[in-house]
Amino acid sequence: MEPVTLAPERMAAEAVRKLLLGGVVPRPIAWTSTIGPEGVPNLAPFSYFTVVSTDPPMLSLTIEARDDGTAKDTAANIVRTGEFVVNVVPEELGEAMWATSADLPSEEDEFAVAATPSAPAHRVCPSRVAQSPLAMECVLERSLPLGNALLVIGRVVCFQVRPDVLDGRGRVAHDRLRALGRVGGRYLGTSDTYPLP
Ligand SMILES: Cc1cc2nc3c(=O)[nH]c(=O)nc-3n(C[C@H](O)[C@H](O)[C@H](O)COP(=O)(O)O)c2cc1C
Repeated sequence: MEPVTLAPERMAAEAVRKLLLGGVVPRPIAWTSTIGPEGVPNLAPFSYFTVVSTDPPMLSLTIEARDDGTAKDTAANIVRTGEFVVNVVPEELGEAMWATSADLPSEEDEFAVAATPSAPAHRVCPSRVAQSPLAMECVLERSLPLGNALLVIGRVVCFQVRPDVLDGRGRVAHDRLRALGRVGGRYLGTSDTYPLP
């Protein structure tokens, strides 16, 4: 079957968005905790998320502006404080993660909204999600406004890993991490994997 040729500049923004978010799958989810201006904990998921560099360890998140052009709380908090924690979402916390994607006022503690306990981070001020098997504490390395979004690059200054998700050789055992990924508007577990040569 021949492909359909589509030029983004001649498409509605929503149609472009559908192709990008449907085509770039599955995406991991960075459940990101930060601290709001009044010291209130903020938690929200971001799937425009990947590894940037392994030495030093760096991650990127891309946070779009709200429809009215204002910065989302996570973006504002990271730029203001220079710190955030990326928590891997285990499958059993999918609904709690989703609850934190609501556009809530910055005075609302989103750990409470998700009814998920927090635990102190070691090297940054924002808390981590206590039940996440792997949390990565980050300091802001660089931020770059691009299009309707802010690209945030964080340097990982501490990993907090639950020992049972590591095999004996320091590798992550994905059948025990059970990280959730996003596929279009749906979700996918990562326990059903297979090897290639
Ligand atoms: C699974 C999932 C992934 C998301 N990924 C992104 C993303 O990569 N970038 C983004 O701007 N918003 C993303 N969102 C929407 C934000 O989570 C949402 O706008 C949230 O209210 C932001 O919260 P904040 O204002 O506390 O930062 C995602 C939502 C869900 C449910």
